[in-house]
Amino acid sequence: MRIDVLSIFPEYLAPLELSLIGKAMTDGVLDLSVTDPRSFATDRHRTVDDTPYGGGAGMVMKPEPWAQALESVTAASPSDRKPVLVVPSPAGEVFTQDVAYQLADEEQLVFACGRYEGIDERFIEWASEHAVVRPMSLGDYVLNGGEVAVLAMVEAVTRLIPGVIGNPDSLTEESHTGGLLEYPVYTKPAVWRERAIPDMLLSGHHGNIARWRRDQQLHRTAQRRPDMIEQLNPADLNKADLAI
Ligand code: ADE
Repeated sequence: MRIDVLSIFPEYLAPLELSLIGKAMTDGVLDLSVTDPRSFATDRHRTVDDTPYGGGAGMVMKPEPWAQALESVTAASPSDRKPVLVVPSPAGEVFTQDVAYQLADEEQLVFACGRYEGIDERFIEWASEHAVVRPMSLGDYVLNGGEVAVLAMVEAVTRLIPGVIGNPDSLTEESHTGGLLEYPVYTKPAVWRERAIPDMLLSGHHGNIARWRRDQQLHRTAQRRPDMIEQLNPADLNKADLAI
């Protein structure tokens, strides 16, 4: 997969070179670059923003440097498939695990990290002729710009690419897979600061342990995320689930 991040603060994206994402890059599974739209600004001050038409607070990012930055990263697209342009914004669709799976299937993702009050809307309209545009919000709160949201989204997407995570089983048992939060986990010692692990986990009975874990998932989800319980498909629940 190819990922391009467009940002006027490229240093913000440096953590992407660390850990599993960095390894995926050195292994050749992921080709990730950061491009600064400011390098396409032509005036002496390399201006990338201006005051909003109609008045109001803050500055708006000018469309031309962003259009040229997008053209520069899509010119050598790996295939005929349109790239997906993710525009992080608190006014976007909420980014979920389902969206992460959809994006992990793409060949090229471009993230356009707006700052200030956002990017001139005409850039978004123009870009939709060249890419599938998806404005995406990390959640119902406001960040200073898209970079932090992109760090989160790139990590959530790239860990789903086959070969990025060593043990793919860890993807099937985590929160938001199967519509439930994950069960609590414990490691040695069996008693720590007078707290013992649940007896069930020492029983050695795999079927009962699996049932206990599923009950924990259901309880935890009901307590912390009742909205997720409402969304469960009744067909995905078994008799034992309904008994708890
Ligand atoms: N930019 C500013 N706030 C954001 C949010 N909540 N999600 C994504 N991008 C943002």
